[in-house]
Amino acid sequence: MTDISSPIRVGIVGYGHLGQFLVDRIQKKGLAAGLSLAFVWNRNADKLIESVPKDLILTNLSEFTQIKADLIVEVCHPQIVKDFGVRFLSHANFLVGSPSALSDSQLDKELRLTAKKHGKTLYVPSGALWGGQDIQRLNDSGSLKALSIRMSKHPSCFRLAGGTFSDWAGEEGRCVLFHGSVAELCPIAPNNVNTMAAAAIAASTLGFHGVTGEIVSDTALADYHLVEVEVTGPDGFSVKTVRRNPAKLGAVTGSATYNSFWSSLLVCKGHGGRVYLC
Ligand SMILES: NC(=O)c1ccc[n+]([C@@H]2O[C@H](COP(=O)([O-])OP(=O)(O)OC[C@H]3O[C@@H](n4cnc5c(N)ncnc54)[C@H](O)[C@@H]3O)[C@@H](O)[C@H]2O)c1
Repeated sequence: MTDISSPIRVGIVGYGHLGQFLVDRIQKKGLAAGLSLAFVWNRNADKLIESVPKDLILTNLSEFTQIKADLIVEVCHPQIVKDFGVRFLSHANFLVGSPSALSDSQLDKELRLTAKKHGKTLYVPSGALWGGQDIQRLNDSGSLKALSIRMSKHPSCFRLAGGTFSDWAGEEGRCVLFHGSVAELCPIAPNNVNTMAAAAIAASTLGFHGVTGEIVSDTALADYHLVEVEVTGPDGFSVKTVRRNPAKLGAVTGSATYNSFWSSLLVCKGHGGRVYLC
């Protein structure tokens, strides 16, 4: 556990929507919450100059070890998790904002081993997932039989890799874009499946290959995203949840997810060498 008398020093990696939100919150409410900024990195450092004090700007991410951080928060891109995740976790607790990166089973394994070896926690934010810790408990007791998650959004809210499904782009109405394993879905829609990835990490006995994901484009969903989760346990046990996540047209991230991410950050005080859904 980190010493609670001194604030937890947080390094923020990425300064897009989530990064800006978190930096602003830490600057305004951090001390009351026991947090302070250690550094902020963005691939384009110019974006930071106006709003981040100069001494907190990290220009070369490879030099993150030169600044003491208790917690590193990635809110950038799965590629940064691949390139830096193991190094981050060797030095600090690590909140992975792009958990879809863990669909790469080799990386998943390396991160889990690094957490154990260095006694650092790999935090996975539950994001728009409802009941993640219940899923994890069912998983840990060996009772989780199946898990499927459907995310439905307005077509403007999808960012799909390399023009995938470009033929549906202008379609009116509802269209199932993909139905299959979360492992197959993550590389296709890396920015849209963090919630499913968090579920697959909680459901480690099923894993990314065993959890079913579906993404649906629906032009009726102009004001919110829908997240539907169906959990199956033994002897006819099942839970279905439907979450409406208010979101503006074109927004990859629902607005409720920002506050959810902040709540996740407040949990990251050190839980030893393991993966922790928060
Ligand atoms: N876990 C969750 O619940 C959750 C919720 C929302 C977003 N996310 C994820 O968090 C990340 C940030 O989300 P956001 O809404 O702030 O996105 P955003 O697009 O607003 O910002 C991303 C930032 O990362 C930078 N970036 C993009 N690709 C990069 C790369 N390959 N290398 C270095 N920098 C790169 C961009 O320049 C930008 O500054 C995304 O991966 C997103 O999928 C996770």
